[in-house]
Amino acid sequence: MNTETIVRQRYAASAKERADKLCCPVAYDSDFLEVIPREVIERDYGCGDPSRYLREGETILDLGSGTGKICFIAAQIVGPKGKVIGVDMTDEMLEVARRNAPIVAERISYCNVEFRKGRIQDLALDLELLDRQLTSSPITDAASFLAADELAEELRVKHPLIASDSVDVVVSSCVLNLVEPKSKRQLFEEIFRVLKKGGRAVICDIVSDEEVPEEMQKDPELWSGCISGALTEEGFLAAFERAGFYGIQILKRDATPWRTVQGIEFRSVTVEAFKGKQGDCFERNQAVIYRGPFKEILDDDNHRMERGRRYAVCDKTYNLYKKAPYREFFEFVDPIAEVPLAEAKAFDCSRTSLRHPKETKGQNYDVTTEANDKCCDGGGSCC
Ligand SMILES: C[S@@+](CC[C@H](N)C(=O)[O-])C[C@H]1O[C@@H](n2cnc3c(N)ncnc32)[C@H](O)[C@@H]1O
Repeated sequence: MNTETIVRQRYAASAKERADKLCCPVAYDSDFLEVIPREVIERDYGCGDPSRYLREGETILDLGSGTGKICFIAAQIVGPKGKVIGVDMTDEMLEVARRNAPIVAERISYCNVEFRKGRIQDLALDLELLDRQLTSSPITDAASFLAADELAEELRVKHPLIASDSVDVVVSSCVLNLVEPKSKRQLFEEIFRVLKKGGRAVICDIVSDEEVPEEMQKDPELWSGCISGALTEEGFLAAFERAGFYGIQILKRDATPWRTVQGIEFRSVTVEAFKGKQGDCFERNQAVIYRGPFKEILDDDNHRMERGRRYAVCDKTYNLYKKAPYREFFEFVDPIAEVPLAEAKAFDCSRTSLRHPKETKGQNYDVTTEANDKCCDGGGSCC
């Protein structure tokens, strides 16, 4: 069974005519649906709404954009200063999305959405560019097949469909499960590649509570119906971790399964994961205190911290913790004498060490002060 061909055929048909029961019902913000043409809304094959986690001005990439509904909602959230790109491999889906894009643009008075043809596990290859080149030099024999392979490689480098480090948020709804098993690892690596440092993925997909048996994976109907290509709940999170993401969390998990097949439950989850923990570690005498409520935590760089204790962290970790999704869990202790980054020494991030208060204050710090009248709520009302 060639899963990709089966998937393409099924979604080509579902673009032309609405298919029932192809993915679970989703409640979208009705205000955003007002400007979206009916045929787009009707052909909704998603399993969640990643658009509710987007912000004004962001550049969004929607994987497996279908008829474009998530892109058209995202266009309104990010506004005229933001940008939305939908990628899909099925011509019939792209046709519906592209035909409706000018209608939405006119209704919202700006145009910030475009649709590109590609496979989401190979976001560098622009399939329309490749199509055009192959029309002038078609594949007729083994030599031209090998030449086409070289051409594809050249296009990936010189004219990538989606450039590296170019996107603020990668979103998707009910598509990752459709990618064939041998390409799943590359798919997560591609999501990582196209994100800017500090960017994030917000992915809604169907996951299973148990491994899907091989027999079920061979069923074309179940595969293209977003069932048997599902990763397990654990496997889904682990795939983000393996690709280098940090701060991975389940934003939403449907308590009720969308479908149960042979006793295996398939449900929708929405997962968020961040890019940006890679890089050099510098010592600037900063410290953090984990506030709780858990007794201890372990982050994606293997820093293990007990609640309430003061830990030494490198400048990179310090700044990561100051942002979502960590910010609310930490207290931050700056050194009294700042260490300029240019003068900072390397920091050994392979172990977690406690930081004595004298390190952040300075060994000779022996100040004595009167009671600070700005303590407690800052209004001078305490004691
Ligand atoms: C279940 S539908 C979801 C469509 C859309 N996200 C929505 O919410 O309605 C899956 C979509 O992903 C596309 N698709 C599936 N596998 C793909 C792949 N490997 N690369 C690009 N698009 C893919 C299909 O053509 C189809 O439009």
